Amino acid sequence: MRLQYLICSLIGMSETHVPSVPEPPKRERIALTREISSALSRCELTHLQRAAIDVALAREQHRAYEQALRDLGWRIESLPEEPELPDSVFVEDTAIVLDEVAVITRPGAPSRRAETASIAAVLGKYRDLVCIESPGTLDGGDVLRVGRSLYVGTSSRSNSTGIGRLGALLRPFGYRVLPVPVQGCLHLKSAVTQVTAGDLLINSRYVERRHFPQMRFIEVDESEPSGANALMIGADVIYSRSYPRTAEILRQRGIRVSTVEMSETEKAEGAVTCCSLLLSP
Ligand code: GLY
Repeated sequence: MRLQYLICSLIGMSETHVPSVPEPPKRERIALTREISSALSRCELTHLQRAAIDVALAREQHRAYEQALRDLGWRIESLPEEPELPDSVFVEDTAIVLDEVAVITRPGAPSRRAETASIAAVLGKYRDLVCIESPGTLDGGDVLRVGRSLYVGTSSRSNSTGIGRLGALLRPFGYRVLPVPVQGCLHLKSAVTQVTAGDLLINSRYVERRHFPQMRFIEVDESEPSGANALMIGADVIYSRSYPRTAEILRQRGIRVSTVEMSETEKAEGAVTCCSLLLSP
């Protein structure tokens, strides 16, 4: 609602009687992405067996993913390919972007640490930056934000030093950081993601529900254990076509689901949240 209209409504005046009040500047909705590396086949793998990846198909699928974001009103700012950084399409792991600040991570896999410099250069245009420093490690894929709470997976990628540092950096902004044990998958957001204001999509075999006391839960179909990663954007969810039974469960709950093909990045243990960093207003 325009501020001018709100003032009118409150004091019962016609809008023309109120001096013009300038609109506050609106922040653009920007999705930061990166082209798939031609070295994607040399990606890190933690739980999956290595399978042949079709890089051309992966790029085609990534274009469609970017288009799904555009369709929901986001402007894509895409970084060029990093031919020496196989996992660099998974930009989510390099930063935690909040309204007040962006935290540049220190990824747990040494092969991924060089990914952060180019991300910091872009995010520095939009946010103040703070950093996770050695010996701390943190992957953005382990960080699930629900309101002012940041749940952080104590995975093979994020250590207690990195999680403690994240808490210290964000406490002044009113965020609380809560470590959550995760097992059987790469990141916390492989196990659980938010799909509505009050609902988490979860695979309870990877993470226990008791860590999220205020929330309701939607369990993935048991034949789709990797289906807990969904990208919530307002009332919409971008979701992988690889998990049709879970997609149907989400739709039955009234959630608007847009599906995208992710077969190639999934072979690299990627998922829909991994492939963008959202800078929301
Ligand atoms: N291949 C994704 C990762 O290990 O970070």
